[in-house]
Amino acid sequence: MPYELGKTILKTLTENNFQAFFVGGFVRDRLLGFKTEDIDICTDATPEEVKKLFPSSLATGEKYGTMTVFIDQYRYEITTFRAERNYQDNRHPGNIVFETELAGDLGRRDFTINAMAMGLAEEVIDLFSGRQDLKQRLIRAIGDPLQRFKEDALRILRAFRFVAKLDFELEAATKDAIELAMPLLGRVANERIRVELTQIRQYPFRQKAIRLMVDLGIGNVFPEIVPGLDFLANKANLSLTESEFYALCFYLANTDIPDKWRFSRVEKRQINAIIAFLKQAQEGSIDWEIVYQHKLATSLSGEKLLVGLKPTIYKRGRVQSLWQSLPIKKVSDLALGGNDLKEYFPGNDKAIGEWLALAVKLVNSTRIPNEKIALLDYLKQHFRK
Ligand code: CTP
Repeated sequence: MPYELGKTILKTLTENNFQAFFVGGFVRDRLLGFKTEDIDICTDATPEEVKKLFPSSLATGEKYGTMTVFIDQYRYEITTFRAERNYQDNRHPGNIVFETELAGDLGRRDFTINAMAMGLAEEVIDLFSGRQDLKQRLIRAIGDPLQRFKEDALRILRAFRFVAKLDFELEAATKDAIELAMPLLGRVANERIRVELTQIRQYPFRQKAIRLMVDLGIGNVFPEIVPGLDFLANKANLSLTESEFYALCFYLANTDIPDKWRFSRVEKRQINAIIAFLKQAQEGSIDWEIVYQHKLATSLSGEKLLVGLKPTIYKRGRVQSLWQSLPIKKVSDLALGGNDLKEYFPGNDKAIGEWLALAVKLVNSTRIPNEKIALLDYLKQHFRK
């Protein structure tokens, strides 16, 4: 149990005269009755002191001063209070200094619901009325909301993530600040943006969050994903993979993949393949040739999107049954290879690719069985012509 193990970590720290609390998302989720796998702990112990108490812990992540203890499949991140401090003369400052430290740490966080701490006896330290906001189901920035978003514009997407996860509302001033700060998202690395968008799309109240994102102006920063977002928020509540989502966006926006999204070559290939499938299938219907060309995974992704885009025309299941009924799923399944063709048609090496494609077509349209002699006979006749 992650919580029980987390408590043993708090215990070890407090028994060694350090202050230690659960903090952040874990406290929020525990008060809401949700399970959390990753537990954040804050303490006045320095990373070196943490390392002494938990020799297996490792310095991790971008967060300065975080040591992570791994127990079973769980991670326990132990972070030294973020507030400034000066310990030169007095290693263990009195309670007042400590309280300032905890308050400083909590006050640097994004939203009131994420800024509570919980001690060993489950006592909650709630300096910004986070519990009240949990009850009222509000996402409220701490202090000056605009300032919070200026410090880290990714918090804008975090706010939408909590809407998508918890079905909460944005508190009025927080909402106004998000609208004002939205252009700052343009300066955040797209990799970070993609991680948040992926999470938003996985949560149950994603449509509500996406609608808010669009209403508050994400289109001024990322116009290329707005048609896709609009579609998901208002037309079809689809659960999409990364490549399906971006294929949908760039297909609807009729744009190439913008460089700024920094997709890897593999990701680009997947996205472009789905877009190509959509374009081909939209011109005619889904037939065996498209499914053969794009193979099963891309075809299923394309079909999922087409069923969402045009439910009266496309139905789920066609790709799967076409694929299953294909006698040949790849050229190497042919009973005939390039070498056979070279032998029978010497001097025609350049045309071999075309003949193999013709052979695939003959077999998959069930005109000729997948047998070497039958195929060679047909090609010989064809060749004579
Ligand atoms: N935090 C913050 N600003 C950010 C990111 C995080 O203030 N841009 C603070 C919040 O208090 C947050 C805590 O750091 O609760 C931990 O962040 P994270 O590990 O990302 O967890 P959460 O997003 O809160 O929750 P979850 O575990 O559900 O992802």
